[in-house]
Order: sequence, then C-alpha cells, then structure tokens
Amino acid sequence: MIITPKKPLVYSDLRIKQIPEDLIYQIKSFERIPIDIFKDAEDGSRHIAHSIALAIKGKQQKGEKIVLGLATGSSPLKVYSELIRMHREEGLSFHNVVTFNLDEYYPILPDNIESYHYFMHEYLFNHIDIPGNQINIPDGNLKLEDVKEYCEMYEKKISMLGGIDIQLLGIGRTGHIGFNEPGSDKDSVTRLVSLDSLTRTDAQKDFGTFEKVPYRAITMGVKTILEAKEIYMMAWGQHKAEIARRATEDKPNSVVPSTFLQDHHQVRFCLDLAASEKLTRVKTPWKVGSCRWTDDLVCKAVIWLSQNINKPILKLTSSDYLEFGLNELILDRENAYKTNLYVFNKLQRTITGWPGGKPNTDDTHRPERSTPEKKRVIIFSPHPDDDVISMGGTFLRLVEQGHDVHVAYQTSGNIAVHDHDALRFLEFYEGINEKYALDNNIKDLLKAKKALKSKIGGNSQGIRNIKGMIRKGEAKAAAVFCGLEESNIHFLNLPFYETGAIKKKLVSKEDVKIVEDLLKKYKPHQVFAAGDLADPHGTHRVCLDVIFSAFNNLKKEKWIKDCWLWLYRGAWHEFSIDEIEMAVPLSPEELLKKRRAIYMHQSQKDRPPFPGEDNREFWQRAEERNRETAQTYRDLGFAEYEAIEAFKRWKL
Ligand code: F6R
Repeated sequence: MIITPKKPLVYSDLRIKQIPEDLIYQIKSFERIPIDIFKDAEDGSRHIAHSIALAIKGKQQKGEKIVLGLATGSSPLKVYSELIRMHREEGLSFHNVVTFNLDEYYPILPDNIESYHYFMHEYLFNHIDIPGNQINIPDGNLKLEDVKEYCEMYEKKISMLGGIDIQLLGIGRTGHIGFNEPGSDKDSVTRLVSLDSLTRTDAQKDFGTFEKVPYRAITMGVKTILEAKEIYMMAWGQHKAEIARRATEDKPNSVVPSTFLQDHHQVRFCLDLAASEKLTRVKTPWKVGSCRWTDDLVCKAVIWLSQNINKPILKLTSSDYLEFGLNELILDRENAYKTNLYVFNKLQRTITGWPGGKPNTDDTHRPERSTPEKKRVIIFSPHPDDDVISMGGTFLRLVEQGHDVHVAYQTSGNIAVHDHDALRFLEFYEGINEKYALDNNIKDLLKAKKALKSKIGGNSQGIRNIKGMIRKGEAKAAAVFCGLEESNIHFLNLPFYETGAIKKKLVSKEDVKIVEDLLKKYKPHQVFAAGDLADPHGTHRVCLDVIFSAFNNLKKEKWIKDCWLWLYRGAWHEFSIDEIEMAVPLSPEELLKKRRAIYMHQSQKDRPPFPGEDNREFWQRAEERNRETAQTYRDLGFAEYEAIEAFKRWKL
C-alpha cells in the first residue's frame, strides 16, 4: 500500500539542502509510513515533546495515568530536554506518568554510566517530578536464569497498566527498534537478545572500545512495541538516511525490523532534512510526481541521469531523458541539447585553481571574486586536523597565492589521544624538567603519570592538558608546513568541548564570543568551515552552529557583507556533485604534500582512539575521497584531474 502524507510539508529553513521546495508538488509517494520532515532535530524534537506534553495534560484532566514507552540513545535527547524545559518553565507535571524503557544492556549495573538506567536518570528522570515507583527500566543486573521470568513480568506489567499510550523510538543503523536486531520476529516479546556488531560499533563511542560493549541486551519485542497505541519514530542526521529509506520504502521484513511498523495504524516517522535525503521523493523527486524544475533540480536530475547510464552529460539524448522518466524536464528546458549545455557549463564553472579568486579576470562566472586580489582568510577547523584532512590542498594554494591565511582550531581535540602517547610525551617533559629547573606543576604531572602508568589513564584535567598539548603541537607543525606564520595560528579551545568525555556541554555565549572576537579582529573576506553533518560525535555540527551564531551576531558589521563563507566536508563524507559550488583540482604533487601535512598529526595515525567505522587512516580517506570526486567529474565529461577538493557556499 502506498500512503500519501496527510499534510503538505512545509520547509521554513532549507539550510544546506535545497530540494524540498519542489516536493510540495508531489502527488504520490513511495513511503509506507507517514513521514514528517523537519528542518532539524531541534524542530522535530520540539514537535514530538509538545505532542507528548499535550497527551500528558489530557490524561491529567481526566484524572488518569499515561504510560510512555521510552528510548535511550542520541535520538530522544532533545525531546527529553524540551520536556524538562516545559517542566521547569511551564509547570508541566509528570506525576501521572508511568514509563517503560525499551531496553538495557546485559549484564550491566544500574549505576554504570553506560547503562540505560544511568542515561534515563541523567537526561530525564532527575529533572522532572515523576515518582520513582512509576519508572520501569529492564534490569541488566539479573542472574541469567532469572531473566526469562523477569521479561514475562515486564510484559505483564505493561498490559496490566492498559498498554503503552505513546512509544518513542530511535532507529539503529541495522534497522533495529529497541534492540530487536535483524532477524527479529514480528511476534517477539521482551527477551534477552544478542547485539549486532554494527550496533556494538555504534555503542563503542560510549564504552570506549568495541570489546567493552556488552554483546547482549534485554529488549521489549517487536510485538510489545507494535501494541503501543501511538508511536513516534525519530531519525536525525545523514548517517540515518539509508536506514530511514529502507524502513519506510521496503516491504515489511525481518532483516529491517523497523519495517514492521508499517502495519501500525498510528505511527509517525519524524526525520530531519539530513536523514530524509535518501527517500525517493527527496533524492529523485521526478520518480514520485510532477516537479517544479528549478535550476538546482535540473542539475541534480541531469547528473543522476548521466551517472545512471554512464554517459557524459554532453552525450545525453532526448531518448535517454524519455527512457528515464525525465521528458517533463526537457520539455521545461526546451530540448536535451540546451539542458545538457546548461548543466555542463554550470558544473564547469565550479572548477577553479584559484580558491581565493583569480586576480585581474572577469569573475562573473567564477566561484570566487577576483578582488581584493589578496584576501584575508580564516580556516576554521573543528578538531586540530580537519583543516588539512578536508582542505589541505586548498589551504596550501591559498598560502601560495599570497592570501593572508589564518587557521583557527576550534576545539582542543584532547580526548582523542592514546594514553601511551601522552605517557611518552610526559616522560620526555619530565626528562627536560629534571635537567632544567623543576617547575611548580610537576606534582600534577606526576599524578597524571602515575594514572597513565597504572593504565587507569582516562581524561582527568592533568591528562587532558597533556593530550591537548600533543594535538596543539601537531596542528602547529601541520599549519607551519602549509606555510603559516605562528601569529596566524589560533587555538580557540572552545569550552563546550572540555568535558573529558564524548558527551559535550551545551554551547554557551562564551563559545560564540570567542569565534566572534576572532572574526571581528581579522574581518576576513573568506571563511572556510566544516559543513559536516555526519560527524559521529557531532562536534563538527556544534562548531558550525557556533560559527553561524557568531555571524548572526555580527550581521550589522559593514565588513561582513564582503565576507563569503565556504563549507567543506570533514573526513566522513563528501558533498554530492550537484551541491558543489567550488571544485579545486589538485595535482599529484599537491596531493602528496597534503598527505605530508596530515602525517604531522601523529597521534591520529594508524589507529586513533575515535576512528569511526572506517578502517582507513585519515590521509587515505581524504585521498580516496578527493580522487573519487575527480573521477566523478571526469565521468560526467570534464577534464581528468588527480584529485579535487569540494566546497559549497553558505549564503549569509
Ligand atoms: C535505545 C534503543 C535503540 C536506539 C537506536 C538508535 O533505547 O532501543 O534502538 O534507539 O540504537 O540509537 P541513536 O538514537 O543513538 O542513534
């Protein structure tokens, strides 16, 4: 059955994506679950939290209890913080709320900070007025022989209370809901399960290493979840885009257990723009219905066609367009020849060897302005190595072409250094200190050394200082290698990052002010920033938001009108070709030089503490990605380059 969304979608802020406006014209959809797309996770979470609050109040008016099924993980965090805000500021009470959590690792102690018990208290229960005896979370600290009976009791307790009124769900990248991994049956109930290795890889960020992630969990079953009266499933971020498409467009199947939700009568899937990007109606809206053929959509469709049939753009014929359902497009643009030429020229003009603008040329169709000839440039780098990984070649060119380039490292990156590296540096420092006068902080350092030696390690302030210094030294070496003077290298150490853990503090005015002050001091003509939404720890995203807020605060300054903001993508993924607005080709020598700059980050080589799920080293990822972009341009019919770095302009 094909379900058409009940209400038209409204996109108030299109941010990096520019597709959705065209979707208002869709007449049918491939989706088998009603979907709401929100501009971002904040917006979507607010919507869900307000629906829950409304239901809680509704029950309060009738003097009844409400039963909520709750999830953990990153997806519901913003829903919980909005509920807490409503409790604090609007007096929303939870006295009539009974909760059942979906799952818990097994075995695990409730006070272990990785446990879901700890999570729920930390992010919700400790901040609201829910009575303790109305909270139910599967017990991960049972003897194995008691688990079965406990699970039966959990099920009974839910039904004795009349079942779950509203169930909140995140979706794992395996397609799991709760911990119902691929292979879970539609009739499954609360039970002990084994975790998929992809799920354990994702949990590695909480536990530190893959080995420390429990391989089992207690979870409500698919049937338990489906019995809820109303369900909200959430997916935020690009890394959820593929599974969001499969969950909603594939037929129900046990390989992707979330597809079973398609049979529920009262379910809504809430996505942000990034998580929606692989839905057919977003990726290839012409397959779904009639489109308004904006210039951007024409580009997207022509590139798609060219890649689908392996033909360079200028060789596409009317019958190619017809065969792939794009006849409406060539009618809109007169004919195939004109359409091809339009897209070809548009892409050709993105390619430039002059990322700071080419002096003394007509810049009407160039990505950057030719004046001022020498620009002031600030490259923001969320972690100390993102600048060279993501735009090392462009960085080198900007310096060589005589621009006044500054680099600003937004965070210390101090948690991503192995203890053994810190110990090595510490012993070196100690040696120096013994030789030359002892300084007063030596006691702290000795304490840190003791912790590192006894393998307790971790991220106490003393240890973090050392690790931060290691990264600072590496970043400086790489920036100097790229040709910068020390005075042009800035370490911002944004406070939000300084928790010593994966979880960071909320962004404060102080973070924004630091970036704002730097911008005010140098009044740059060009700013480069990581426009990356798929960083697993979200630091890139937060760093970008800090820059946006700083720009917003400075919008009345005169110079800001001449300041162009270019986004690059971090190590995790690249812009799609139709999004690229500046493509900087690199020669083989330049690519090698970029590799050397990345090599300066020794603590991140081989196997850094947070490699993500990609086994390649950062320089390998960067090179392969830059080569791939060059290859894609070549396949579309452009000149063959060794590698290309890509940028998209953010219009302020
Ligand atoms: C959590 C749970 C899981 C998560 C899922 C997504 O209680 O049951 O199904 O919802 O793994 O996790 P995040 O939200 O961290 O991406």
